[in-house]
Amino acid sequence: MQLLIMTIILILTLLAPYFVFLGVKKAKAKDIATHRKIQMLVFAVCMLGLFGLEALIRVSGGSGSISGKSSFAENSVFKTILVAHILGAVLTYTIWFFQIVLSILQYRRTLPGKFSFAHRILGKITFIGLIYTAVTALIVYIFTIL
Ligand code: HEM
Repeated sequence: MQLLIMTIILILTLLAPYFVFLGVKKAKAKDIATHRKIQMLVFAVCMLGLFGLEALIRVSGGSGSISGKSSFAENSVFKTILVAHILGAVLTYTIWFFQIVLSILQYRRTLPGKFSFAHRILGKITFIGLIYTAVTALIVYIFTIL
């Protein structure tokens, strides 16, 4: 059961950058209504995944209880990648959260307009962050199941 939940969350994490990219393509094609819907939906689904992961960690015995079962639990390379993954994911989700909230608030006020430049930059940072999160999540997942 634990493996199934982890696998579902991993798949969500791997698909997130692809769907954000699809959403950005809609903005480039000037279909802002679809852009907005896709971006809000991907964020909402990933937030559910994040809460699911948090719940799974808690019922499994708290921080370190899942990765601790890995035969690589004491391996310094694994530990470093795990910390790098957590830091990158927290940073990415924080920026993504602000991007979504600010964009919803500024939509039709200063977006398009004054906020457009910051919106594009935050969008690119979020996209790169989601790729980083996906790649490091896959490595952590593989180490965890070994
Ligand atoms: C509900 C939230 C969102 C709303 C209301 C929204 C709205 C918009 C609007 C109105 C534009 C056109 C700006 C202009 O032409 O000056 C735009 C462009 C863009 N958005 Fe969003 N957006 C949202 C979420 C996101 C998210 C989450 C990302 C990335 C993670 C993102 C990335 C981009 C990018 C990269 C562009 C520029 C596309 C281009 O090169 O033309 N947006 N968005």
